[in-house]
Order: sequence, then structure tokens, then C-alpha cells
Amino acid sequence: MKLLLATNNAHKAQEIREILSDSYAEISTMREAGIDLEVEEDGSTFSENALKKAVETLAFASGRFDAVLADDSGLCVDALNGAPGVYSARFAEAHNDAANNQKLIALLKDVPDERRTARFCCCVALARAGMDPIIVQGEVEGTILHESRGKNGFGYDPYFYYAPFRKSFAELSSDEKNAVSHRKRALIKLREALDAENRSRL
Ligand code: IMP
Repeated sequence: MKLLLATNNAHKAQEIREILSDSYAEISTMREAGIDLEVEEDGSTFSENALKKAVETLAFASGRFDAVLADDSGLCVDALNGAPGVYSARFAEAHNDAANNQKLIALLKDVPDERRTARFCCCVALARAGMDPIIVQGEVEGTILHESRGKNGFGYDPYFYYAPFRKSFAELSSDEKNAVSHRKRALIKLREALDAENRSRL
């Protein structure tokens, strides 16, 4: 069975290979498959965007793959009614991590610690030829710091405090972060859904 990943991110691809190689003998990124397609993420939820990307990429790859996996993720802050959410990558006008974080912290400047709760969410969609898609979501809970901490990771990591480790996500090694991340939790749910399907066929 051949799986195409609707990403060129090597870290995501590695994480996905570790967890899905039992189900798919061949797993390729877009670049490895020689496919160049940019699907517009114009949905209002993570699942709409992930499913659209997976379905459109599977159709574009026309018969070369059994399935396409796509994900969409972002930060949801309770005091901002879930923002930046699906707009996480393009929250500030400048569309970069520094500007996005600056806007986040400015909007939260008068919000006290107990109301700075937030979560990273990741939706993973698996579109399959001739079968229903599987859509799962993983989340990791944290709070938004007043000042940045740590240099690792990307995006909102320096401001995302993860209480179980008493560190921001940017203070974790990539192995530590990957063990608890929203993406990992979504991929584990996908693995469980595939295993349950296999068991029901026996
Ligand atoms: P994507 O779905 O991986 O493209 O992520 C969209 C945006 O959400 C990124 O550009 C980041 O701003 C934010 N984001 C998603 N996952 C993370 C994370 O693990 N750490 C920090 N920011 C993240």
C-alpha cells in the first residue's frame, strides 16, 4: 500500500513514518513523489482544511497512491475565543513567527495568568481511494507566557508553557516535544482507527 504525505516537512514525514509504516509499505513526501501542488487552506476549521488538502491531493495524484495524509494545525487561545486558530500561520499582517507572537502577546497583555489557557490542535485527514476518509484531532493543553522562553521549535513554541514539564515548548528537545505534541496525539488516534478497522475485518 502506498501513502502520499501532503507535506515536504522532513520532521513531520519522519514522525508519520514511525507510526504508520505497519499500514503503508511505501510512504513519500510530495517532493519525493515529484508532485507540486499548493492547496488553498480556506476552510473555517482545521478538519475542513486537512480533509480538503488530502482529498484534492489524492485526486491530483490520480491513481498513483492508495491514500493521502494531510494535516492542519494551530494555536487556540481561550481568552481570544479560539484565535488565532486556523489563521495561526498568518495571524499578523507580516505572516511570520515574530510578528504573530508579537500580536498574540499584545492582545493578551491585560489578561491575568489564570485566563491565559490555550491549546495546540492538529487535525489529520487520511483520504483513501474507494474508502471513507478518516479524520482525527489531537490537542495539547498549555498557557501563554508573558515573555518568551527557549530557543527550540518554531511558531508559538516560546510562549507556550507546558505545565507537566514546567517548561515552554521552545525549552524542550524535539524528542520531548514530539512525545506529547498535538501532532503525535492525532497520529496515535489515526493508528488506533486503522487498527480498529483491521480488527473489524477479521
Ligand atoms: P501547520 O498546520 O503545520 O502549517 O501550522 C500552522 C501554524 O500553526 C504554524 O505556522 C504555527 O504558527 C502554528 N503551529 C502549529 N503547530 C505548532 C507547534 O507545534 N508549535 C508552534 N506553533 C505551531
